[in-house]
Amino acid sequence: MLTPITRLFALSLVALTLMSCRGQTSEKPPVHPNLNMDFQDRFNAQEENSFFADGRAMRTPVEGTVARGNLRQESEIFEGLDENGEFVDYIPVDVTRDFLERGRNSYEIYCTVCHGGTGDGRGIVMTGNYGYVPAPTFHSERLRGLPDGEIYSAIANGVRNMPSYASQIKVEDRWAIVTYVRALQRSQYVPEEQMQQFDVDLAELRSEFTEEQERQQAMAEAREAASAEEEVTAQRGERLYVQNACNACHSVDGSAVVGPSFAGLYESERNFTDGTSAIADDAYITESIVQPDAKIVEGYQNVMANYSYLSEGEIESIIEFIKTLSDN
Ligand code: HEC
Ligand code: HEC
Repeated sequence: MLTPITRLFALSLVALTLMSCRGQTSEKPPVHPNLNMDFQDRFNAQEENSFFADGRAMRTPVEGTVARGNLRQESEIFEGLDENGEFVDYIPVDVTRDFLERGRNSYEIYCTVCHGGTGDGRGIVMTGNYGYVPAPTFHSERLRGLPDGEIYSAIANGVRNMPSYASQIKVEDRWAIVTYVRALQRSQYVPEEQMQQFDVDLAELRSEFTEEQERQQAMAEAREAASAEEEVTAQRGERLYVQNACNACHSVDGSAVVGPSFAGLYESERNFTDGTSAIADDAYITESIVQPDAKIVEGYQNVMANYSYLSEGEIESIIEFIKTLSDN
């Protein structure tokens, strides 16, 4: 049973509560009995401050000083560069099983969408027609040969059309990802002699591989058959040039971007890094698209991913478009 005093107390509590919510909004600040240091004069980011000659409230660090915890002296760790400014070809932190797992975790968050779970460049972003520059497979001769520091740099600084992930991925996690990319590369490139020491059925693996190749071959043939009925026009070629992000690396105004311009390309003489040359006819342009590392144009790097998923009709349309850039 409640005593009368308790009852009175409870009743007044209810009354007070009811009084405090009067069902309307108020412009007045709420009652704030203990101010602590909640309210003080301060400047917002980017605000002006006439106290300083340059009028800025935000100050730059005093020259010659480094904020605590920000001394990034070891360039091999923070930039992946040795003392000569060359990319390091080792991972400059301790590699453990946990570290590798951490790399896998971050890789799956940040890289899989484009580079694919196995690093084959077929992430979900690349399978749709979203107009992205294709992410390369990590299982090519060139990327297997990349020094560790250069992979680190791709994450830290971005590379050509790939943005930097420095703001999302901490230094240590970047190295963890490099470790995992190396593990992925090894997983797809084990010479047969080395396979023998593992408990795997080579014959079975080989037959799985053949099946997969046959499946891909059948898909390619189906695409080819469908493309026989496609229209081939320069307008379609121009659309494809944008949709497939060719424009990220090839201009149409004669300026060199990552790759050579398409202006004036058709039927011109091309010189290659191996000293040979050729005329840019239909066959050459087709080869440049489906097998870009066959001939590397002089003055450029071997960085174009292969577009073998384009159908014959699509490639012919792109060639029609390229032709229009030489007619004058
Ligand atoms: C939005 C898609 C996208 C994401 C996400 C992405 N990449 Fe890339 N990556 C690309 C593209 C596109 C290129 C090719 C850029 C070019 O050649 O212009 C590339 C190139 C690379 C290269 C080759 C660099 C070279 O020297 O040729 C490496 C290594 C690489 N990425 C690693 C990573 C790692 C590690 C991650 C995760 C932290 C990642 N990428 C996330 C799209 C992506
Ligand atoms: C990541 C950048 C990049 C993208 C995207 C790209 N290319 Fe390239 N491409 C290059 C580079 C670099 C070269 C020169 C090196 C070489 O020969 O591989 C080149 C060479 C070529 C050449 C030979 C050019 C010449 O001057 O002889 C053709 C044709 C070509 N690309 C077509 C295409 C088409 C079509 C697309 C889109 C479907 C495309 N490229 C997308 C980078 C790119």
